[in-house]
Amino acid sequence: MAFIELSGVYKGYGNSKERTHVLENVDLSIERGELVSIVGYSGAGKTTLVSLLAGLIFPDKGTVKVDGKVVTGPSAERGVVFQNYSLLPWLSVLENVQLAVDQVFPKLTEAERRARSMKFVEMVNLGPAAAKRPKELSGGMRQRVSVARALAMEPEVLLLDEPFGALDALTRGVLQGELQRISQESGKTMLLITNDVDEGILLSDRIIPLGAGPRASLGPATVVDIPRPRDRKELNHDPRFREIRLGVLEYLLESGKQKRAEREAAAPKSSGASPQAEAVQVAEVSP
Ligand SMILES: Nc1ncnc2c1ncn2[C@@H]1O[C@H](COP(=O)(O)OP(=O)(O)OP(=O)(O)O)[C@@H](O)[C@H]1O
Ligand SMILES: [Mg+2]
Repeated sequence: MAFIELSGVYKGYGNSKERTHVLENVDLSIERGELVSIVGYSGAGKTTLVSLLAGLIFPDKGTVKVDGKVVTGPSAERGVVFQNYSLLPWLSVLENVQLAVDQVFPKLTEAERRARSMKFVEMVNLGPAAAKRPKELSGGMRQRVSVARALAMEPEVLLLDEPFGALDALTRGVLQGELQRISQESGKTMLLITNDVDEGILLSDRIIPLGAGPRASLGPATVVDIPRPRDRKELNHDPRFREIRLGVLEYLLESGKQKRAEREAAAPKSSGASPQAEAVQVAEVSP
């Protein structure tokens, strides 16, 4: 059995009359040490998928297992980097990281916990900013604190929900490089959620599209058989990179078209999304 295993997962929100059916029949297997990325439209259900794995919500049908055990709630074994950085504003960078370390390693001495926290602050290159409060940091720095905090808990699995989504392209590039390094050094199992196909290919062992919602399900997985370390600039000239990107994009476009046709068939009077609306969604997938 794979380390992470979702089978036949359905998840919706709301009461039975006005239920939003978000995920339908989602199957996913991730091996220990693998880095898998899932790329999909905004609103398709990516955070829903992460929340199921984090144990914050539960499937309507199907099973979510990590390390052979059904997920019944949050656990320090599954570190999450949320889409919004969720730092405590009154604590410094180091204290935000140490708060998590204190919870997970209560048996260590204060000095040991501090040293461990500092090690991870330095790993994300925030040593000089260790005493700063979140409001004194840039968005990219906050996101790095979030990554450091999750890593410092030494989770078995790291769940990253669009960790760089809110950042400018340059900062995003720097953090992608850092994540690539950390992933190689730590060998951790990681699930990276992104709306950027190129980022997914750059960083992962396998990339899987999440089709358009409602009732989104996962498309075929593609093994990213491009040697590491990968350089974003060089990748653009790599024929295999282009082939993978085209495959993922075509799947997403096709599933978007299909969902639009279904909507129009169900409600012929309201014509559904305009061509422009679809273009916007596609732009979100591949900025
Ligand atoms: N707690 C909730 N209650 C009701 N509906 C919800 C809830 N959370 C999410 N939804 C709906 O479920 C769908 C999927 O939401 P989700 O946050 O998983 O999307 P996403 O793929 O993460 O989007 P984004 O890329 O914008 O973060 C959306 O239609 C959203 O409105
Ligand atoms: Mg989301």
